[in-house]
Amino acid sequence: MEKVRVGIVGSQFAAQLHAESYSRCPAVDIHSVAAIDNLDEFGEAYGIPNRYSDYHEMFANENLDLVSVCVPNYLHKDVVVAAAEAGMKAIICEKPLATSLEDGVEMVTVCLENKVTLMYAEDWIFAPALARAKQICQEGGIGDILYVKAKETHHGSHSIFAQKKEYCGGGSMIHLGIHPIGFIPWLVEENITQVMGMVTGGAEQNFLHKEYTGEDWGAALVVCANGTRGFVEGNYITCGGMDDKIEIYGTEGNIHIDLTQGSPLKVYSRSGYGYAIEKADFTHGWTRPAVDEFMSLGYVNEIAHFVDCVQNNMDPPRGTTGADGLRALAVTLAIYESAQQGCLVQIPTN
Ligand SMILES: NC(=O)c1ccc[n+]([C@@H]2O[C@H](COP(=O)([O-])OP(=O)(O)OC[C@H]3O[C@@H](n4cnc5c(N)ncnc54)[C@H](O)[C@@H]3O)[C@@H](O)[C@H]2O)c1
Repeated sequence: MEKVRVGIVGSQFAAQLHAESYSRCPAVDIHSVAAIDNLDEFGEAYGIPNRYSDYHEMFANENLDLVSVCVPNYLHKDVVVAAAEAGMKAIICEKPLATSLEDGVEMVTVCLENKVTLMYAEDWIFAPALARAKQICQEGGIGDILYVKAKETHHGSHSIFAQKKEYCGGGSMIHLGIHPIGFIPWLVEENITQVMGMVTGGAEQNFLHKEYTGEDWGAALVVCANGTRGFVEGNYITCGGMDDKIEIYGTEGNIHIDLTQGSPLKVYSRSGYGYAIEKADFTHGWTRPAVDEFMSLGYVNEIAHFVDCVQNNMDPPRGTTGADGLRALAVTLAIYESAQQGCLVQIPTN
């Protein structure tokens, strides 16, 4: 079978997550990259021969089976639409799908019209610990799911684009909270239909990050169509490295998952060492270094699965279609509306 010819748009943090995961897929040729910085360093690191400073040029020159969109949120629409209209076969878009519902609807529509498969990169769905948790739920291990509490938190984004609402579409809720927002409907297999949100308001209203124009703390109570309750949180006020925790409560038991800080390794280091976990400040003293974050956070399985979808003409699984990305965005924007109005917001079912 011919290798899947991949192009990546972006060359920094998320692009690295994709490139590292592609490089573990024997079926993939990472053929091209387009970005406005770090092109050669990134290209050399992953052996990518074709490098472009303009993604339009890449789409005009290359016949790609799969495009990874790893640019700031506000550019997702432009890149996805350009890729679809240029005839690329399939697209993986990083989260959030877009910064507005109008953009998200356009992306899904243009891909549909051009018969392009749009896949939404919610990596939590492919995290081995979360996939195992869902399997236990499906086996009836904790009875019926009543309540899910889930958060992604750390001490602030490395990306200037994620710090500004105009590029990001919000703050920690759209950037981090969107993971639990995408995860819960996948776990429960029911859409979120109501939300009650609260966020710090950005800039001077933030707890810590006055220079961020989006919120640095956000949380929401959510209700699924079957009555399952959830609590989702995304914040930039958490020291000590990225902290992703999930608790699932059922009629017959519960499951607790520590996605980022639950390493089997426990290291005491007087001198420090290279890297422990994402967004950790230092590696001195006692630390719990990740064994393989690309794997444990889901990126490796996500990319392998999407490549499989392209090779075998399969639809992406629940939670990772363009429509699922649009739904996660609608829930996130409803949380902002709820926070602003101080009331429960309903999300239309379609
Ligand atoms: N799934 C996850 O866990 C995860 C983690 C981090 C980021 N992300 C998402 O990935 C996306 C990128 O985030 P990041 O952290 O890599 O950002 P970043 O700021 O580290 O990198 C931005 C990249 O976009 C490229 N870029 C900017 N403007 C461009 C243009 N006009 N044409 C081509 N390339 C352009 C830059 O060259 C750079 O490589 C965001 O949507 C973010 O939400 C997802």
